[in-house]
Parts: sequence; structure tokens; C-alpha cells
Amino acid sequence: MTRTREHWGSRIGFILAAAGSAVGLGNIWKYPYMAGQHGGAAFTLIYLICIFVVGLPILLAEFAMGRRTQLNPVGAFRTLSGNKTWKWVGFLGVSAAFIILSFYSVIGGWTIKYTFLALLGAFGDFTPGSDVSARMYDAFINKPFEPALWHLLFMALCILIIARGVKSGIERWSKILMPLLLVILVVLVIRGITLEGSMEGIRFLFQPKWGDLGASGVVAALGHAFFTISLGMGAMITYGSYLQPDSDLLKSGLAIILLDTAIALLAGIAIFTAVFAFGENPAEGEGLIFVVLPTLFPQIPGGSIFGILFFFLLFVAALTSAVSILEVVTAYFIDEKGWNRSRTTFLFGGIIASIGVLASLSLSGYNILSPLGDLTFFGLLDTVSYKYMLPVGGFLTAVFVVVRWGVPQFIEELISGTSLSRAPVPVVTTFFVVAGLVVAYILLSEVWVVVKSWFV
Ligand code: PHE
Repeated sequence: MTRTREHWGSRIGFILAAAGSAVGLGNIWKYPYMAGQHGGAAFTLIYLICIFVVGLPILLAEFAMGRRTQLNPVGAFRTLSGNKTWKWVGFLGVSAAFIILSFYSVIGGWTIKYTFLALLGAFGDFTPGSDVSARMYDAFINKPFEPALWHLLFMALCILIIARGVKSGIERWSKILMPLLLVILVVLVIRGITLEGSMEGIRFLFQPKWGDLGASGVVAALGHAFFTISLGMGAMITYGSYLQPDSDLLKSGLAIILLDTAIALLAGIAIFTAVFAFGENPAEGEGLIFVVLPTLFPQIPGGSIFGILFFFLLFVAALTSAVSILEVVTAYFIDEKGWNRSRTTFLFGGIIASIGVLASLSLSGYNILSPLGDLTFFGLLDTVSYKYMLPVGGFLTAVFVVVRWGVPQFIEELISGTSLSRAPVPVVTTFFVVAGLVVAYILLSEVWVVVKSWFV
């Protein structure tokens, strides 16, 4: 194949696009609600440890594999391994992309709905302690078709961006809006901590009570570390493949991880200070931010403007992540099957959108899994992908670098184009071995708990 590969327009364009992939609903919607369900500080601590111990080496491995091969995840594993077995790790990633996008876009749709609600001034008279905002949220998600239509709109936007290609589509979007999101979060944090009773929220988020975590909280924290930096499914291999060999991968990786973590923690502070000050339930679940934040905006001068901006930026953050997921699928069919970009994007985007409709309906009481118990189809897609597929994908990536591609080759790619000196192979190997062992230990303890429960 002699097609020339598209590349990022600039170094900062790559960092912003990769940060755009990392920062999304994972930080602002998923992290607070999961921390709320798994004991707050204990969950946060494990998630932070996993980000730095497990996330950083694997992120760098994905960037390096992508830049080295200039290929999608399947192609990258195939080329670097020189055999056919390893490409299955790439397939695992492409399948995870399918699954993640079909539930992610449902929440993406909610952010569009809430931007319109904010524009219409729907939160104007919400007062702390009343349940109007919870009632509004319930009324919305209990409608079968409306949330599904917003989801389809979200998917349509995602497909249009990806059909236009990486540079004109993805890069441009990520450039201006990220700093604005940070500013709004800081305003929310300031209002949150100045509310009466907010300190309890800070304690909840930063003072661990280990008893509240539970075994599945640990796997959830590990899985979330992968989810929030878009790891373990080849999204960062794909974005790395649009790099020319002149960027500093280590610096970019660190910047992305720090920004992603900062945004999650700011969102957590804004939300939990308000949750405790208003007497809401931290374990509310998927609806947490949609219930709590509409009550917070009216407490801020100019709050209606902040409300509009917040939900709009959340929508943009969700979109820049969603496109990175769809790009994994698209890049695979373009590189490996020689398909054309728009055909691939419309076809697979359409399939993902249809699965997403089922996910959306499952939250409105039309759950195709209801004969099997309480689990919703949405919950199944979510749990299978972030808790299991991403950590397994990440684990295999770490193993791949050590046993197949080779740590010296990884180091060479990492430092190429920079003035960094060559790190000693044993040190770098240790990072990957530790990352792999942490993931294996956490996943195996989860399996052990499940197996034990069958016999007791
Ligand atoms: N990291 C994104 C977020 O936090 C979600 C994502 C997961 C994107 C996996 C790409 C791959 O919202």
C-alpha cells in the first residue's frame, strides 16, 4: 500500500488531540459517580496509583508502537511482533472500541439535552434540598425515545468529524475549548468549597475509609484508570500513528496524564462539596452530575451562563473522546482492508449507533437483558469494557513490550527526535513488569472473589 498517511499539523495539535481523547465523560461524569459508589477517597487513591504506576508506561508504549509502525492497533501488533498471534491484542482493542462507543454516546446525547435545558433557563429556580432536579432527570431518562434521539444526534456528529479525517476533523476541535473547560471547573470548585457544609465533601474525597471500597472497588479503580486515559484498546496507538518522528513522547504523555488527573479531581471537588452541602446521595449513580450540578449553578452569580457553558463544554469534551474511539475502528478498516474513510465511518458508526439505541432504551426500562435480572444492557457494555477488556489489553501491551517487541527497541522509539539520553534497559523493564504485575494481581483477585462466591 502506498497511500500517504495523514499527520498531525503540529506538535501541540497532537498533545491537544490526545488530551482531547483522554479528557471526557470519564473525568467529569464517570469518575465522580464511581468514587461516590466506591467509598470516595479509597477509590481515588487506588485510581491515582494505577494512573502513575500502570498508566504512564502503557501510555508511552502505545504512543511508541503507533509512531514506530504508523499503523492501527492490529497492524501495529502484527508488524512489531512479526507473527500472527499478537495481532489479536489489536482486535481486542478494536472490539473494545465498538463496545465503549455504544454506551459512551448515550451519555454524550444527555450532554446535548442538558445544554439545551440550560439554554432554556430550566435550572433557574432550583433550590438546594428540593428534589426538582432529580425529578427532571428521572422524567428525561424514563422517556424511551428522547434520550435515544439525542444519542443518535451525538453519533451523527461523531461520524461527520471522523469522515472528514484526522487533521481537519479532530485536531481543530481540541484546540480552544479545553482551556475554557478548565476555567469553568475552577469557578465551580470555588463555589463548591465556599458552600456551607462543603468540607464533608472534601473529606469524603480525600480521607480514605478502606472499609467502603470492597474488592470490586479496586478493579473498578484500575479499570477507570485505563478508561480515563483512553488506554488498553489502541486509541493511543492510533493517535501515535499520525505522529511524525520529532515529538517528545515522554513529555506529551506526562502532560496528558497530569491534565487528565487535574480535571477529574477538580470535577470531583466541585461535585462532592455540593453533594454534601445540599444533602444529596453520593452513591446516586449515572445521574449524579445531572442531578447535582443544575442545583449548583443557581447558587453562583451569572450561574445560568456557567450552566450553559459547562454542559456545552462537557459535550465537546465527550465528542473529542468519542471521535478517538471511532477512529480506532476506522483506521483498522482503512489500513488493513484498504477501505475508504467515509464508507467505513458511516458503516461502523451506524452499527455502533444502533447498538447504542439498545443501551439507551435499557436505561428507560426497555432493557433487553431484563429476563436475566437487574443488569441493564448499558451496564453490561460499560462493565465488560472498562473493567475487563481495557485492563487485559493494557496487560498484554506491557507483556508485549517486554517479551516480544523488546525494551531496547521501545526506548529507542521513545527517545527518537528528542535530546533525552537512553534510559537503562533494566530500569525501564522494571516499570513494565511492575505495571503488568499490578494489573494481573488486581484482575486475578477479582476472578478469585467471583469463583469463591460460586462455592459459598
Ligand atoms: N478517556 C475518555 C474519557 O475519559 C474515554 C475513552 C476511553 C476514550 C477509551 C478513548 C478510549 O472520557
